[in-house]
Amino acid sequence: MLEIRNLSLSIPVGGEHILAVSDLSVSLKAGKVLALVGESGCGKSLTAQSLLRLGEFQGVNKETGDILLHGQSLFDVSSEALRKIRGGVISMIFQEPMTALNPVFTIGSQVLEVIHLHTDLDKSTAKQRALSLLADVGLQDGEALMQQYPDSLSGGMRQRVLIAMAMAGEPEFIIADEPTTALDVSVQKRIIALLRSLQGDKGLGMLLVTHDFGLVAEMADEVAVMYAGEIVEYASVTDIFDKPSHPYTKALMHCRPELTKDGKLAVIAGNVPSPGDWAQGCRFAPRCDLATATCSAAAVSLDAWQDGAHQARCLRVGES
Ligand SMILES: Nc1ncnc2c1ncn2[C@@H]1O[C@H](COP(=O)(O)OP(=O)(O)O)[C@@H](O)[C@H]1O
Ligand SMILES: [Mg+2]
Repeated sequence: MLEIRNLSLSIPVGGEHILAVSDLSVSLKAGKVLALVGESGCGKSLTAQSLLRLGEFQGVNKETGDILLHGQSLFDVSSEALRKIRGGVISMIFQEPMTALNPVFTIGSQVLEVIHLHTDLDKSTAKQRALSLLADVGLQDGEALMQQYPDSLSGGMRQRVLIAMAMAGEPEFIIADEPTTALDVSVQKRIIALLRSLQGDKGLGMLLVTHDFGLVAEMADEVAVMYAGEIVEYASVTDIFDKPSHPYTKALMHCRPELTKDGKLAVIAGNVPSPGDWAQGCRFAPRCDLATATCSAAAVSLDAWQDGAHQARCLRVGES
């Protein structure tokens, strides 16, 4: 189990640090997929990166809370242990397969590098392992591919290589931050099918960051909806679709890329506030049709709703 507990993160803005993720708690379970959903700028990537303590390289600070891997704090481990955890226990797949590979090294040398980082295989066994990893992600003719440079691969092939690299250390958890957003629609489907079969076959716990509810329906077991740095709804995938409870969740579901009756694409009016500009009280209230003065008066807590496992942060929960 990989748990984020009451995590608050701040980002550097003009010489000071301001809160960008606040009091966030979620858990990733072995073999289960948790989808983290929300518009751009809600803090999804900051949250995803925190699981490998990656944001710290860009000045992101942990203000409160903890991240526990099988009960042990990731903030208590040595830097050596953290290096082994990265890729060996928790792997990350990024949004941009173009920039995540180094253009000056061959595919082979980059795949072999991660294998050597996580195993003590000798040279020829490592190469066999590289070929089998590439085959696992659907890349044919691995021998030839290993000699090539990232430039000569399509976006979909690069993402497959990155997925192979993420699997090299046989991780227990995969963090996939919008893994298909940068790819063509036809390629997206195949990459998702690949991720789903790897996740299922290897029983991986997965955090899937996305704003695509179609993808959520296809892959997730649980869903956390994030708005302005906090979770606003947290429930099983069935409950999210059967009884979405937060007005933001409902609004997000309605802006799936389908045309409404009048031929317009449904969108949520207004924008996600930047960190530092969050409304007092309910942060979604300024964009919410149901909001009353009470909603903006004081912070709203994330409370159990209905059967207890379904949580929502809304004073008018369930109303429409
Ligand atoms: N390293 C950073 N330094 C400063 N601001 C950042 C940094 N990372 C993210 N932010 C800001 O924090 C907010 C949340 O970002 P992010 O987690 O990337 O959102 P999402 O992934 O949901 O689109 C955004 O306003 C973004 O500009
Ligand atoms: Mg992001």
